[in-house]
Amino acid sequence: MLLEDTYGRKITNLRISLTPRCNLRCFYCHSEGECNPDDEMSLEEIGQILKTARHFGMKSVKLTGGEPLMRTDLCEIVSLIPEEMESSLTTNGTLLARKADELKEAGLSRVNISLDTLSRERYKEITGRDLLPQVLAGIDAALEYGLTPVKLNVVILGDVNDDEIDDFVAFAKDRDHLILQFIELMEDFRNCPYHKDLRPMEEELSRTSKTIITRRMHHRKKYCLDGAEIEIVRPQHNTEFCAHCNRLRVTSDGKLKPCLLRNDNHVDIRGKNDEEMKELFKEAVLRREPFYS
Ligand code: GTP
Ligand code: 5AD
Ligand code: SF4
Repeated sequence: MLLEDTYGRKITNLRISLTPRCNLRCFYCHSEGECNPDDEMSLEEIGQILKTARHFGMKSVKLTGGEPLMRTDLCEIVSLIPEEMESSLTTNGTLLARKADELKEAGLSRVNISLDTLSRERYKEITGRDLLPQVLAGIDAALEYGLTPVKLNVVILGDVNDDEIDDFVAFAKDRDHLILQFIELMEDFRNCPYHKDLRPMEEELSRTSKTIITRRMHHRKKYCLDGAEIEIVRPQHNTEFCAHCNRLRVTSDGKLKPCLLRNDNHVDIRGKNDEEMKELFKEAVLRREPFYS
């Protein structure tokens, strides 16, 4: 039985933050609204949440952070994901190379890897660490072990990396099963000097792409440009995003988050038995209302 909110949106997708910890310090990071590193959910708690998601027929689960590979039990977490759910991981890729085969083995379907530049110097400036070679090795390993499609998350930052678009397109064309996601800085960063409006890029892509696909999730568009697939992720502050949002989010300290844009209506699901947790899932879904409508 799929959960449905009072606005008719079916809840098909669970997004779990496993930890607020990260080994990078990207200067623009929104940290997914996460803060307390001392209160992470245990493996058992995450397992119970996954079981509840399966009970409600959810179709996919996304594991995020912080950096989820900071958790030493990540492979065990992945192995708890019910087989019928598609699973993906959003990672900065720095720790991925030596874990990719184990993650695949544990049942992970695919990964999104954050990479904003192909220049080692710039990478250091953006993230605070000299780890570009490790990320490139992570991408290779993900492709090699079939954690595909691999999506490269590129946050486009004015006067920082906006001259690298063609390099990224060439990088994607050279590799099968690799998709680019060009991401606009979130709304809170609108006044930041690096904010760049991606609308003109999207308009250009809609003129030049051979095919355009509209994804069900958030109605994002996917453009196919001679051999490269490109998705544009615009800020969440729009009615289209809200109208097509089918996600329920879980914070790393065990709270259901009915809406990405609100922090005042969380539902605490820790320390509950299976039946109570099911009721709290229903409660969180009832609390969902489009922020922008
Ligand atoms: P898939 O395309 O299915 O892999 O999902 P995705 O692209 O939404 O996942 P990813 O974690 O790679 O996020 C890409 C961008 O979307 C990031 O900039 C996120 O900030 C933004 N985003 C999408 N959904 C959410 C959400 O629920 N929470 C937060 N914080 N960001 C989100
Ligand atoms: N705006 C947009 N995207 C962001 N990310 C991190 N901070 C921001 C922000 N302020 C991206 C990361 C990662 C994804 C989960 O979120 O690059 O790929
Ligand atoms: Fe934030 Fe991701 Fe950068 Fe870590 S890698 S600092 S979580 S954007």
